[in-house]
Amino acid sequence: MPQLFDIVGKTIANWYQIHKRVLPWRETTDAYKIWISEIILQQTRVDQALGYFSRFVERFPNVESLAQASEEEVLKYWQGLGYYSRARNLHFAAQHIVAKHHSIFPSSHKEVLALKGIGDYTAAAICSFSYNMPYAVVDGNVFRVLSRLFGITTPINSTQGKKEFSLLAEKLLNKKNPSLHNQAIMEFGALQCVPKSPNCIQCPLQEFCVAFASNLVKTLPVKTKKIVQRERFFNYFFIKKGTETILQKRTQNDIWKNLYQFPLIETEKLSEVEDLLKHPFLNDKRFVIKKTSSVYKHVLSHQIIYARFFTIETYDDLFPENKEFIAIPISNLSGFPVPRLMEIFIEKNLEN
Ligand code: ADE
Ligand code: SF4
Repeated sequence: MPQLFDIVGKTIANWYQIHKRVLPWRETTDAYKIWISEIILQQTRVDQALGYFSRFVERFPNVESLAQASEEEVLKYWQGLGYYSRARNLHFAAQHIVAKHHSIFPSSHKEVLALKGIGDYTAAAICSFSYNMPYAVVDGNVFRVLSRLFGITTPINSTQGKKEFSLLAEKLLNKKNPSLHNQAIMEFGALQCVPKSPNCIQCPLQEFCVAFASNLVKTLPVKTKKIVQRERFFNYFFIKKGTETILQKRTQNDIWKNLYQFPLIETEKLSEVEDLLKHPFLNDKRFVIKKTSSVYKHVLSHQIIYARFFTIETYDDLFPENKEFIAIPISNLSGFPVPRLMEIFIEKNLEN
């Protein structure tokens, strides 16, 4: 592997020398300017970033001028880029550098990372581009290049993926010239190993590329879809009739199939008891509501259940006994399989 890493790193660096774009933030090692460029580039594409960058650093050429400006003026120069907290963070961090670092942009990775609005990626970019320190950048371009080259299918937006790709990026990093290496791999992703239909036929890394060999270029990198959690509202009725209560068996194809529960009314939103009283289950029956529980939030992998338990006393038969509903002695409750949510309520309310 080390030898392969060497060859891959060298190939990307050679490619970069030929194909790199000339960009103003690549013509400087001024950490301040590199910082500004990286924050702008998080907001927009290179072509639009050029104009914003030149206007910004012309008006605010260094940390002090940025710190001394009003927030309003800084926001004005940011106008159109969106995500205005990034501009406010720049301004805040500049004032912090003036106050705590004698107006000199910090030069240790730890201090850079501690600045407001600077995360792992930006700290690595600043420290490598400005100070040539050996921190590997991992941005979208790097994720894509590494996942394809090495055929890594771990989702790039998972915790495991972030760890795996950072570790690999660090191993691949050329410690002798981290600045060039980082610029090169990012540029390789931006221009050669592009998201859609990269030109693999004319790629200098083709012979080493796992994705190309295994026809996985279209598939990689893998991103997990953010699952939208469905919200559901469960209203349970703990009906007390003397020493008995009623249970309902869940028979539908749904969560908790074949488990037991207190009779349930599911609603579209969080309901108050008045809304529920109109329900045919309860309408016209003689009963007293003894207690309304707080809302229990129960998180499942694809659903969030908001549940409320209504404790009711009655003399009427609220439900006919049929396959779905059964009357049982309250003291037998623990003998029935119930969802954890029910169990929590029972533990809290019936232990004696
Ligand atoms: N995107 C983020 N940082 C960049 C840089 N330094 N050069 C080009 N594109 C970038
Ligand atoms: Fe990217 Fe294709 Fe080159 Fe592999 S061969 S590194 S997928 S451009």
